[in-house]
Amino acid sequence: GAIDLAIRGGTLVTAADRFRADIGVRDGRIVEISERIDGATEEIDATGLFVLPGGIDAHVHLAQPTSDGTVMADDFETGTRSAAAGGNTTVLPFAMQVKGTSLRDCVTAYHEKAAGNCYTDVSFHLIISDPTPQVLGQELPALVRDGYTSFKVFMTYDDLMLNDAQLLEVFDVARREQALVMVHAEGHDAIRHMARRLEEQGRTAPYYHAEAHAEIAEREATHRAISHAQLTDVPVVIVHVSGRDPMEQIQWARRRGMQVYAETCPQYIALTRDDLKGLNMDFEGAKYVCSPPPRDADGQAAIWEGLRDGTFDLFSSDHCPFYFEAPAETGKDNHRARTSFRWVPNGIPGVETRLPILFSEGVSKGRISMERFVALTSTNPARLYGLYPQKGALAIGADADITLWDAGLTRPITQAGLNHGSDYTPYEGMEITGWPVRTLLRGRTTALDGRTVEGPRPGRYQSRGLSEAVTRAG
Ligand code: URP
Ligand code: ZN
Ligand code: ZN
Ligand code: ZN
Repeated sequence: GAIDLAIRGGTLVTAADRFRADIGVRDGRIVEISERIDGATEEIDATGLFVLPGGIDAHVHLAQPTSDGTVMADDFETGTRSAAAGGNTTVLPFAMQVKGTSLRDCVTAYHEKAAGNCYTDVSFHLIISDPTPQVLGQELPALVRDGYTSFKVFMTYDDLMLNDAQLLEVFDVARREQALVMVHAEGHDAIRHMARRLEEQGRTAPYYHAEAHAEIAEREATHRAISHAQLTDVPVVIVHVSGRDPMEQIQWARRRGMQVYAETCPQYIALTRDDLKGLNMDFEGAKYVCSPPPRDADGQAAIWEGLRDGTFDLFSSDHCPFYFEAPAETGKDNHRARTSFRWVPNGIPGVETRLPILFSEGVSKGRISMERFVALTSTNPARLYGLYPQKGALAIGADADITLWDAGLTRPITQAGLNHGSDYTPYEGMEITGWPVRTLLRGRTTALDGRTVEGPRPGRYQSRGLSEAVTRAG
């Protein structure tokens, strides 16, 4: 049959191989991969470019309500616009349960926010903040069967945290329903204790967030989460791992044959805790406040080891965008945040800069291979979150979700060059070699040279299958 689109002359890179080939697309799917494809209705010349499966950012926060009056700087339109411009074709934001409300109703609300507004495909992880008998017994099992096959639980944050008994109950449901659990592993009481002590000493600048959220507290919680997972015999993903100590807990568990998966993020290779000092321990440091916080040079070195040696399965952005200077108390620079680091909204934007940062710092500097880059940013997230092989693959039958990559293009990250809703980027001025130049979703170009194309937004919701972590375990 006829080929709608041929992508010609590029070098294809998958999680396993690199080879010269043309790609033929029909009805939004890859139908041919061969030496030469002629006679297509439309052609894209990819000579001199790498052809990658579209980026899948499996950890993104969009349009989440907050309880403190701050406002997320991205809704589904701006967040997925930013994602597409940064080489992504699928994002997985969270549908967060607000305590005291139905999980199902919360999920419905996120669908309403996303519908018709997305430049990438979208699927939701659930956040369980209120594991009532109704949620554990009815809503969650029904949602997993409907294709929400992963959920996140928190060991800190007043609005979200579960105690150990609740964590174990949720893990039990995950095992029964074959869902994958993601854990935010930071010890709440240890953080509270440190924060109180710092405040008593008058240490209230944004920098002290990094001291309160100590790596020891992350290490302890990581171990506790792993122990709970062992006890309930369920695979878990430890998300946003920041440094050496929590990594060692994950390696320890794996040596004992446990199924523990791990994610890290750009902030743990491109920022350090010193960034939170701002200019002179001033409020500028709030721009870098996220949890867990960035660590130090040794922590960065450890993360690189883990990206190389397979400790990490996933490299996601943890895009959680706030304004810095926002109108009337809605951003990082709000009245209460000026009184203590404890009130600075946690999170930084990064969905658009995730792929360029890992490519530039990793591939261009010779720390990881291009195949590993693809595995960490597209193929593994598709496998772990039930989207493979429709997503995350350059293969016959897969969606034609494709990113064309110019490995030789060098330019700095600047706020003016980005498409997100935040009024700053924590990576301002960072020199990057290797940028996405074109993003295609099901064969349709969604972004060109860092800007989305006009027209109807083609992103669709993706119901997901079971995680390979679960099917492998069974
Ligand atoms: O500081 C962060 N990472 N905020 C986003 C929420 C989370 O814990 O992932
Ligand atoms: Zn988290
Ligand atoms: Zn997050
Ligand atoms: Zn904090």
